[in-house]
Amino acid sequence: MLQNQLSHEYTNQSKYRNVQAYFSALNLEGFYKYFEEQAKGEYGHYEHIISYLDQKNAPYKVAVEALEPIEFNNVKDIVDFYYNTEIGTTQLLYAIAKQAKAEGDEGTVSWLYNVPIGDTNLSLINEQTEEEDAALILKQKVMDGLGDNDQLNMQWIRHVDKMLLKQLEG
Ligand SMILES: [Fe+2]
Ligand SMILES: [Fe+2]
Repeated sequence: MLQNQLSHEYTNQSKYRNVQAYFSALNLEGFYKYFEEQAKGEYGHYEHIISYLDQKNAPYKVAVEALEPIEFNNVKDIVDFYYNTEIGTTQLLYAIAKQAKAEGDEGTVSWLYNVPIGDTNLSLINEQTEEEDAALILKQKVMDGLGDNDQLNMQWIRHVDKMLLKQLEG
């Protein structure tokens, strides 16, 4: 299962690169940087799993899912996509932990909950729950100011964009 998660994290990276590209075209630098950071984080999860499998001398094959180009129509689509991606990932990680526990693989359970990723202080599951929270917060923030008026919506998106930029630089 952890082997499959490799592909999943790599795919998450690709998904967020698509989101990044969307914001690049719109010159929304805060969203752009935010999703660039998410993409790098997903690659970090991928590397983190590889190093654990290597350390255990566990066999694995990197098989990356083909990803169709994703078309986004608006920012609302994106925050839904982002939140759903993170929820799906959290569920997969909990399923891996559950299976490892059922198999008596305490080492993997402990790794999932306790071993920090790279130079962070969060384990894969801790980071995942934080990412799911962050995705929900961003989704709610975007949705808070959206209405029927396209021009006002764009103003709101630019406001959230500036807020994200400040948050990333601060
Ligand atoms: Fe991830
Ligand atoms: Fe994530």
